[in-house]
Amino acid sequence: MPDPTSQANYLQITSQHFSLDWKVDFEEKTISGYVIHDLIANEDNVKEVSFDTFALKIEAVEVAGHPVQFSLGSTHVVMGSALHIPLPTPLNSGSKVSVKVAYSTSKNATALQWLQKEQTQGKGFPFLFSQCQPIYARSLVPIQDTPSVKSTYTAAVSAVLPILMSAIRVSPPSEGPAHGGKVIGKDLVTYTYRQPVPIPSYLLAIASGNVVYRPFDKLEGKDWTSGVWAEPELIDDAHWEFREDTTRFLAAEEKLTTNYKWGVYDLLVLPPSFPYGGMENACLTFVTPTVIAGDRTLVDVVVHEITHSYFGNGITHADASHFWLNEGWTNYMERLLQQELRSPAHRGFAMVIGAKLLYDDLKLYEGKMSKYQRLQIDFEVGEDPDDAYSSVPYEKGCNFILHLERTLGGLDVFLPYVKDYVNTFMGKSITTAEWKTHLYAYFKQHGGDEKIKALDSIDWNAWLFGEGLTLPVEMEYDLSLATQAYALAERWDASRSTSDPSKLDFTAHDLAEMDTNQIIAFLERLQSYPALPSTHVQHLGSLYDLASTKNAEIRLRFYQVALLDPTAPGSLAYAQEAARWVVGNDGSGIVKGRMKFCRPIFRDVHAVDAELATSTYSQYKEAFHPIAQNLIEKQWKERLGHVQLLPSGDSVTVRGNL
Ligand code: BES
Ligand code: ZN
Repeated sequence: MPDPTSQANYLQITSQHFSLDWKVDFEEKTISGYVIHDLIANEDNVKEVSFDTFALKIEAVEVAGHPVQFSLGSTHVVMGSALHIPLPTPLNSGSKVSVKVAYSTSKNATALQWLQKEQTQGKGFPFLFSQCQPIYARSLVPIQDTPSVKSTYTAAVSAVLPILMSAIRVSPPSEGPAHGGKVIGKDLVTYTYRQPVPIPSYLLAIASGNVVYRPFDKLEGKDWTSGVWAEPELIDDAHWEFREDTTRFLAAEEKLTTNYKWGVYDLLVLPPSFPYGGMENACLTFVTPTVIAGDRTLVDVVVHEITHSYFGNGITHADASHFWLNEGWTNYMERLLQQELRSPAHRGFAMVIGAKLLYDDLKLYEGKMSKYQRLQIDFEVGEDPDDAYSSVPYEKGCNFILHLERTLGGLDVFLPYVKDYVNTFMGKSITTAEWKTHLYAYFKQHGGDEKIKALDSIDWNAWLFGEGLTLPVEMEYDLSLATQAYALAERWDASRSTSDPSKLDFTAHDLAEMDTNQIIAFLERLQSYPALPSTHVQHLGSLYDLASTKNAEIRLRFYQVALLDPTAPGSLAYAQEAARWVVGNDGSGIVKGRMKFCRPIFRDVHAVDAELATSTYSQYKEAFHPIAQNLIEKQWKERLGHVQLLPSGDSVTVRGNL
């Protein structure tokens, strides 16, 4: 079946390369110019090429240098409009043609957020960035917007601010003077890029703003370079946060898989409205500024995105139905690296934290959306992949691979398989069935009947298509890093019978030995008990500085504890506080645009006071990325209510042996 989220006829004719010629206009908030696709026919008698588009203004089309009449199909709310281009001479299999489309983006480009200068760190210049995954590249360029197609690309982009793309910079040099030595914000400079490795459309990316580059120390014997881009005000902190781990983890990743082949691995720190933690754009991972915690405790986001260089960017899911191949494998490998470079306890701990995320999301999809509890989701034509975006592909997927690792005989057996998997499928786009066929073939060859028997013992149907709140197998994790956090949560739970918690022996020192992830585990564990009395919530918040911490991961969990029971007497005050925090109206001026933060906060505030949530949101709507706007608004329409957690005992199967 062709990709259910695309209207392009990519099976008949495929874009192998495209070149972009763009001008970025910060006044008009548009990108305009043209794209030239170099296509090859895959069958005989191909009479038309169709591209995906969304809210684009198409001006003119040429086929092999000659103008042609094009037509735009009707607009589908999710998929957009197909751009139909007739080919004057039908093509036979193997023949090539180039198609040029002149166009500009519109205000409704879902992929793009145009920030006012006030919304940046430096407040001196505007900022633009894209987010194309899963299906928004079509609002940036007419393209075959499916991960089943991979193309190389080149770009020449003019702007008054530095331009970054998901490719290798040709000119001006990254390490040369900013903006090629011209006046930032005033002079138009043309940046050129090339991406010689074929990439799926969702990895196309552009960012533009007042950013500077600082390289990480080069590792000996490596032919790739790595560094970080950020606004000048943030570059010192960003460089410090990432300089140890980025190259170290990439080198470790190479050992487990194969050489990094993209030439450049750079990070770009975005303004706070960036809707994700990280996005693995080719050669240039985008990261949220909220991972700059000052203690390197949140760098696992970078480890995750590095891992996508192989799982996702190298081996790509064929379409949205197989998205778990990207995220499940990446999560598995990311945590394996944590085990190798930190300790086995770190892998177990990450699994424990993930189990909570998985359980919450499985809960959210209970009822009429139970289809999204599946690992392999068979999407219908035009179904929105963002509706299915959750921890399920990440966590169920990761547990599945971990279960395979254990069933097949541990890492000694499994790691050589991982290498073979990577070498077999690098550069390709695959389905779950193709992955499974290779797995069986590999173990038939390396282990024979015994390993095949082990594979046959797996309940494939339950793992791939099972619904419900539990995993098919009860998983065991190393809990040693969670013990202290859980013991503290237990003490707080037990304290509820004392009316004045300040009389108890809790001290600010309780958290002193814990890192950010352990504090998260503590606060998440608290959420598995019945809501604490408001006196206790208040004491908790002030004693440990949770109600004022700048660490957004911790602050989010504190509000989740405080808003656990939306009808509790103290909830309204916390809902108001959380609402101010999420939009940056708490004196910080920093919007919490990362969807991991803003979606649950708006959901929880809504459960306490719907009017407070919607009016706060409407007032600050423009601060959020168009993708986040869509999803926040949708979540209210569908009345995805407050997640009422079961007491810890009831969720035991999904959470392993907690
Ligand atoms: N590729 C994803 C982000 C994504 C997925 C964007 C689907 C749009 C559609 C990225 O690699 C990711 O998983 N980010 C996580 C990081 C976390 C798991 C460490 C995030 O943003 O929270
Ligand atoms: Zn990911």
